[in-house]
Amino acid sequence: MGMAEGHDPTQWSHNADWRPSEVDTERASAARMYDYYLGGSYNFEVDRTTAEAVLSVLPEARTFARHNRSFLRRAVHYGIGHGVRQFLDLGSGLPTAGNVHEIAHRAVPDARVVYVDNEPVAVAHSLDLLRDNPYATCIQEDITRPNSVLHHPETTRLLDFSQPIMVLMCAVLHFIPDERRPADVVRAYSDAMASGSYLALSHATATDYPDQLADVIAIYRQTQNTAHLRTRSEITTMLAPFEHLVFPGVVYTPQWRPEHWADVGDPAESLAFAALAYLP
Ligand SMILES: C[S@@+](CC[C@H](N)C(=O)[O-])C[C@H]1O[C@@H](n2cnc3c(N)ncnc32)[C@H](O)[C@@H]1O
Repeated sequence: MGMAEGHDPTQWSHNADWRPSEVDTERASAARMYDYYLGGSYNFEVDRTTAEAVLSVLPEARTFARHNRSFLRRAVHYGIGHGVRQFLDLGSGLPTAGNVHEIAHRAVPDARVVYVDNEPVAVAHSLDLLRDNPYATCIQEDITRPNSVLHHPETTRLLDFSQPIMVLMCAVLHFIPDERRPADVVRAYSDAMASGSYLALSHATATDYPDQLADVIAIYRQTQNTAHLRTRSEITTMLAPFEHLVFPGVVYTPQWRPEHWADVGDPAESLAFAALAYLP
């Protein structure tokens, strides 16, 4: 998983006590399966077996994860290049190569980063990685409760919502069913953001592999996170609170301002759309 320097990714498998007590080891979690797609080691047997079941019907799941992380990196670079100095990463997942604070701190050592996830393993490992970092932390919250996230003491300690911020919702809203009104969740965060802020969004789609993705959705139904894939137009609608989409708008993740055109490959294999929305 290409961990940050000094962090031993195998630590927890040697130390059973390190598992947070509320971890459900019987059912796979999206966070730990995604870690497995990325080649990480923060996963249990049930996560590996379930992720392998997904990969057997849709090997592109690994391509999805790789392109998604790459989009996140480019979005954070864009934000740093445009003066953003604070980041709220919603549904941040397990630490991996190129975490938001690592990307940001290379350019701006005191940039502020708050990670949010509701998966206890992701939060525990993130906190372990960040224990000596005064500028970044992780909180365990449900992102569909924006008030709890925005008014969390750690959020208010590190982030100043009167200043521009980048909120990231990467590969997370497809775990929010329509009944929980993902568009309203986006709006609640946008209402809290100052002028000059950005929302980096990526979201899985079933547009190109409908049959395989029907099987994948069925597999995720057995996990802690049901999957709700959406069309480009549904994803675009969620961005309505923002007046402006940074060029090129809503595109497949590798098509969003690639560093090299050779990186794009077959964009549909990324299984996800991405956009960077701006609040003027
Ligand atoms: C596929 S991972 C994406 C990780 C990272 N954002 C990325 O793009 O690489 C999705 C993450 O969202 C988290 N998640 C799903 N639903 C959530 C919710 N309602 N509140 C907080 N986190 C959630 C999962 O636990 C998981 O860590």
